[in-house]
Amino acid sequence: MLAPWPNARVASLPPVRDSRCSMISTRDDDALSRTVEILGNDGIVALPTETVYGLGASISSVRAIQRVYDTKGRPTSHPLIVHLSKFDDLERYAKEVSADARLCAQACWPGPLTMLVRRNELVPDSVVGGSELVALRVPANTFTCRVIEQLGSPIAAPSANMFGKVSPTTALHVCADLGELVDLIVDDGPCSIGVESTIIDFSGDHARLVRPGGIPIEDVSELLGYPVAITERLVPAPGTLPVHYQPRAIVRLVEEGEDPGEVVAALRDSGKQVVALRHVESPPLLASTLYAQLREADLLGADVIVAQLPAASGLGLAVRDRLQRAAHH
Ligand code: TXA
Ligand code: MG
Repeated sequence: MLAPWPNARVASLPPVRDSRCSMISTRDDDALSRTVEILGNDGIVALPTETVYGLGASISSVRAIQRVYDTKGRPTSHPLIVHLSKFDDLERYAKEVSADARLCAQACWPGPLTMLVRRNELVPDSVVGGSELVALRVPANTFTCRVIEQLGSPIAAPSANMFGKVSPTTALHVCADLGELVDLIVDDGPCSIGVESTIIDFSGDHARLVRPGGIPIEDVSELLGYPVAITERLVPAPGTLPVHYQPRAIVRLVEEGEDPGEVVAALRDSGKQVVALRHVESPPLLASTLYAQLREADLLGADVIVAQLPAASGLGLAVRDRLQRAAHH
């Protein structure tokens, strides 16, 4: 058995809320108008989605897009996902839409599927880092879709965390990471899925998985009628892919055949503060709590996070990907 999560210590931690953060709830009457006004005036706003919170900027504002890169400390060679409010906008921003792409968008949007397609001239260079492709998705969050609709422009949004660090799944996570660097943080409670969208490249003859995420790849393969190629990147090659999703504590993966209880005990015997991931038996629950658990472990001062890898199917594939990157030091 894994050691229980030390709840008593979590409860006694000081609140993260910080007076430097400008935060609003989606339930506030003026939330929509304030958000749209800020985004329409070169501002950047942290917005809720079903996967993780995004740091949003209107794609029409070169200044705001640059601020997103600067705020995250992200190289401009890493392009941003463009968020649309409805399926119909796919044709508006994509140059050509294959039958496969149309089928998947129709079935999965709004939802955690990002599609890489050839872009047309309405997508500015600054958003895609000069690439011929654009990443498009319709998030399953009513508030954020209404913002995009009223703004009259898609919103480019990477996850609202510092580059290479753990993504935020609550407004307080954003507040703790980015504080006063963003003009507004819109709180819509914890994200239901908790890991980023599945990214699939539809620009070639066959759909290709770029990043496992919130929609299981098995579901997309079933829709398309052929298996989408899975290239699980066990360890990102240094220099080509950034080390991502990293907490401060070291992540110790527990592989199949290892006993997590023994791993925890051995680490504790050597004097380490150890936190073991919970909900490893349920990939959806593990996904929806993963980033909060990694953050809590850091707040607790853990030296090591012991993480049992789920099977590489369903949401387990995305969780494995994030944990393997988190463990790569
Ligand atoms: O669930 C999500 O996808 C969240 C929410 C906020 O929508 N967003 C997100 O964005 O995870 P970000 O920036 O953290 O990750 C987007 C990934 C990056 O690895 C980026 O390089 C890739 O998508 N990407 C974006 N546009 C691309 C493009 N035009 N070509 C190739 N890769 C692209
Ligand atoms: Mg990210």
